[in-house]
Amino acid sequence: MLDHLTVVSHPLVQHKLTIMRDKDTSTASFRKLLREISLLLAYEVTRELPMTTRRINTPLQPMDAPAIDGKKLALVSILRAGNGLLDGILELIPAARVGFVGLYRDPETLQPVQYYCKLPDHLDERLSIVVDPMLATGNSSVAAIDLLKAQGAKNIRFLCLLAAPEGVARMQEAHPDVPIVTAAVDSHLNDHGYIVPGLGDAGDRMFGTK
Ligand code: URA
Repeated sequence: MLDHLTVVSHPLVQHKLTIMRDKDTSTASFRKLLREISLLLAYEVTRELPMTTRRINTPLQPMDAPAIDGKKLALVSILRAGNGLLDGILELIPAARVGFVGLYRDPETLQPVQYYCKLPDHLDERLSIVVDPMLATGNSSVAAIDLLKAQGAKNIRFLCLLAAPEGVARMQEAHPDVPIVTAAVDSHLNDHGYIVPGLGDAGDRMFGTK
């Protein structure tokens, strides 16, 4: 079992994250770094997958070689910023099934409002990995995981780039069975629900919007 919270302290992850946090980092660099970091985080979040063996023939002899067991993974991106993490992870796990949950934060209440949901089938038989770069209040991730569970998902992990203590606590309270993998847990949320020190609005930074 993964711990409830895993902070990936690998020097490559931390170095890339520092460049991403810098407000002078360009959109192109931010996007490229997010892709690179998502590969490293995907490596961590896919630890301890059930394994089986497959009979193959090496050039020298037959062998029972290790292979991942079970149905294809489901990757679920919380739109729109989740797509930045999704692209990189799909490079590593190209056969994964992909779902999307569209949620926006009401700027006054900070509560998530759902506008889209399309999830892979047979979620009860798959490991689902929900991706969103920023675990801020936790409201969107909790709502997205509620949707997955309503469609039968039992084995869920959550992957983000940055988390706030408030979001980690909210997830722990609502979904204690869902391990979180992140590159850092920052100090706090400000009055607008932004992670401090954070990196700003992840969607705006990766898509070059304001
Ligand atoms: N979403 C973001 O993009 N950034 C934050 O700091 C919090 C939520």
